[in-house]
Amino acid sequence: MNAISRLATVISLASLLPVSAFPVSALAADSKGSVEVVHWWTSGGEKAAVDVLKAQVEKDGFTWKDGAVAGGGGATAMTVLKSRAVAGNPPGVAQIKGPDIQEWASTGLLDTDALKDVAKAEKWDSLLDKKVSDTVKFEGNYVAVPVNIHRVNWLWINPEVFKKAGIEKAPTTLQEFYAAGDKLKAAGFIALAHGGQPWQDSTVFEAVVLSVMGVDGYKKALVDLDNAALTGPEMVKSLTELKKVATYMDVDGKGQDWNLEAAKVINGKAGMQIMGDWAKSEWTAAKKVAGKDYECVAFPGTDKAFTYNIDSLAVFKQKDKGTAAAQQDIAKVVLGENFQKVFSINKGSIPVRIDMLSDMDKYGFDSCAQTAAKDFLADAKSGGLQPSMAHNMATTLAVQGAFFDVVTNYINDPKADPATAAKQLGTAVKSAK
Ligand code: BGC
Repeated sequence: MNAISRLATVISLASLLPVSAFPVSALAADSKGSVEVVHWWTSGGEKAAVDVLKAQVEKDGFTWKDGAVAGGGGATAMTVLKSRAVAGNPPGVAQIKGPDIQEWASTGLLDTDALKDVAKAEKWDSLLDKKVSDTVKFEGNYVAVPVNIHRVNWLWINPEVFKKAGIEKAPTTLQEFYAAGDKLKAAGFIALAHGGQPWQDSTVFEAVVLSVMGVDGYKKALVDLDNAALTGPEMVKSLTELKKVATYMDVDGKGQDWNLEAAKVINGKAGMQIMGDWAKSEWTAAKKVAGKDYECVAFPGTDKAFTYNIDSLAVFKQKDKGTAAAQQDIAKVVLGENFQKVFSINKGSIPVRIDMLSDMDKYGFDSCAQTAAKDFLADAKSGGLQPSMAHNMATTLAVQGAFFDVVTNYINDPKADPATAAKQLGTAVKSAK
């Protein structure tokens, strides 16, 4: 049974149950309608970003019910969402990404009408790249609104720590990365801040695959799920390098949240972190300035590539007219110019609107965001723009789960063998497809 029919089977039960609507008593007397938004933006920086949306929706006269579910990468939020759907009580809006949007839409629970008018009036088709709009459309209709674009293949550096450890420049190759890691360790620092949660392990894994196998190899293995690429010598080499990268990881990082690890780099306890640019939201919240207090560089060997991760808010069918109006308000706000700017500045991402991406200076974005936008546009032309596996843009959650299991077991098993792990990847992905 493929992933779509698996989700559909579970959720088809939900159609027997009534579609939720907020009890009228939950509404403030003068509210135009109420909407619950399920998301996983709970770190300090992420919260600052989502609060921008909440404030605007409330200003527009709606009641925002916050459905935040803690847990970086969103795995817990997705589990909560599934059980809410099965119970016949989905929220009005939920953060869902990539191919999973199609999977949810095929269950019939997403609303294919709710966004029609706003998408037309706001000219979404011309504001968005086709690759992006295709992700958030189901059978030609928008079922979600894309919020922002994150780049995943970044390396975050504390330059002061680098200086103390005698490192002169940001590493551009894996060998330079190891040399920097050795110096950081010798100087008593944590070399690589890293929380050992499966999604964080796979964020590092995909960066290493991109570095070792290049864009074509990354695409074959992690996007096309080609068995030969998943099990071949280049994957074995990637896994060998991954094991070496893991020797620099924070020994206290097991099970640790990504933002607590980011804090170690910000506070000068660690030198580096491999993380998508939501990590920048923590630097911003700590009032640190890009290019001065911290450096963002592409993960060594990946500067000609951009693994993308687009946050989107999907709309679920609702009976209540006020909730439907609130969904439309959210959608309108999200793709508005001012929100695109303020949200991304807080979140560490870049706007999803193409007109804004080519004019980043105008909006006061920092050097990391300017680099990201420039690279996004260049890599879209060269083919270097690839969906992130670890962040649910390349595959469904089921396939992603197969990667997560093999990669995390491999990192944690002291006796693990890269050739065996590559074979396991091939088998696990095949059965999850
Ligand atoms: C999401 C980001 C979020 C990060 C950490 C990613 O998958 O796309 O919006 O900040 O996870 O939770």
